[in-house]
Amino acid sequence: MELVVDGNCFVAGRMQKCCVGIEGGKIVKIAKVLEGEKVLNFGNKLVLPAAIDGHVHFREPGMTDKEDFASGSEAALCGGVTCVLEMPNTRPSTTTVASIREKKKAASAKSLVDFGLFAGVKPGMDVEALAKEAAAFKLYMGSTTGDLLVPDILEVKKELARIARTGKVLAVHAEDENLRRKDPENDLEGHLRNRPNECETTAIKTIRNAYRGDRLHICHVSARQSLFEVKGRTGLTCEVTPHHLLFDTTSRLGALIKVNPPIRRREDRQALFQALKGGSIDMVASDHAPHLLEEKEDDFEYALTGTPGVETLVPLMLQLVRENHLAIDLVIRMLCERPGEIYGLPKGRIAAGYDADLIVVDMLAGEYIKADKLHSKCGWTAYEDMPAIFPKAVFLRGELMVENRSRVGERKGRDIVGST
Ligand code: DOR
Ligand code: ZN
Ligand code: ZN
Repeated sequence: MELVVDGNCFVAGRMQKCCVGIEGGKIVKIAKVLEGEKVLNFGNKLVLPAAIDGHVHFREPGMTDKEDFASGSEAALCGGVTCVLEMPNTRPSTTTVASIREKKKAASAKSLVDFGLFAGVKPGMDVEALAKEAAAFKLYMGSTTGDLLVPDILEVKKELARIARTGKVLAVHAEDENLRRKDPENDLEGHLRNRPNECETTAIKTIRNAYRGDRLHICHVSARQSLFEVKGRTGLTCEVTPHHLLFDTTSRLGALIKVNPPIRRREDRQALFQALKGGSIDMVASDHAPHLLEEKEDDFEYALTGTPGVETLVPLMLQLVRENHLAIDLVIRMLCERPGEIYGLPKGRIAAGYDADLIVVDMLAGEYIKADKLHSKCGWTAYEDMPAIFPKAVFLRGELMVENRSRVGERKGRDIVGST
């Protein structure tokens, strides 16, 4: 065996003291004892599958002062994420074969984690050609960063029918543009008034009724009423973000957590948490949306929407395990197994045949989140000083890439489309 990782591993649904045997970047064997050319023994530390972040904005091309594939992927890696799905609202937006190929070139040259690219839904797009390049499609029903708004889905009726036939996931930013208000807003409550709960819940019903495909995914569900619309429906999956789980409008973070869909009331936050615990949420994804601090420190009204989070996603969820709010198997399902299944990746499990993407965790080694130890170009975090558990080591396809929160490996990430 080329490499053996020995530790307290999450295998077949439970923690077990065993060895993971790795050849050519893949897990090939799991046994109590394995011999290898190289053996790394992590004792009683936890060895878990690395996470797949199903929702990030790495801003390249066009906004690389905020982030690019190099900085965004380094942040991902140091936070225990070895695969990201990257959103199309860049400049230019990723809606043509030329633009997706261009983005792929940049990502292949710079990314330190594996990646899949979303193609944005727009009238007149070449669905079939894009389906060959894209990991999935993304529809924006409400306005936010970028120029991909489709306020009335009748405008893309034909495109949606064709997407349904590609067999790819259609992910949706579900906010009904026509129910959005445009009143002046000075704080989180004001932003919420302009994007009330029904804005999201109505959009979910609209797309659910209109879309004929069987792989519809609702991004960042945030309103308690929306939970009834996504629960237990075949062909429909959904995600929540850490910021909607951890913050509500009583927060004093102001524009730092001005996001779309908005941070809502405590009742919504608690309902999301209960739904997560009850198993009716498929995944937790960061919606990593970096902006520069000066773009956030303007007047609340003009502050850009979005908050960074790819590096803190896994550490915050592990902290919730440590505090006994969530079970570890649930967290692994949300961060690793379900995203792997939904996007059809050989990742997210410690099992023979899967990519050897692993993290090593010491549940007793808590830290406080500090922006100056994070790797996003934006340089700030809404989670400053919050307790979290960062991985001690991170492996991408069998290569040790991170040790003690710093990068040590050089392996380049690759496109999940056409490489597996
Ligand atoms: O707050 C948000 N920011 N919501 C989105 O949907 C987009 C994101 C961004 O790209 O900044
Ligand atoms: Zn969104
Ligand atoms: Zn987003």
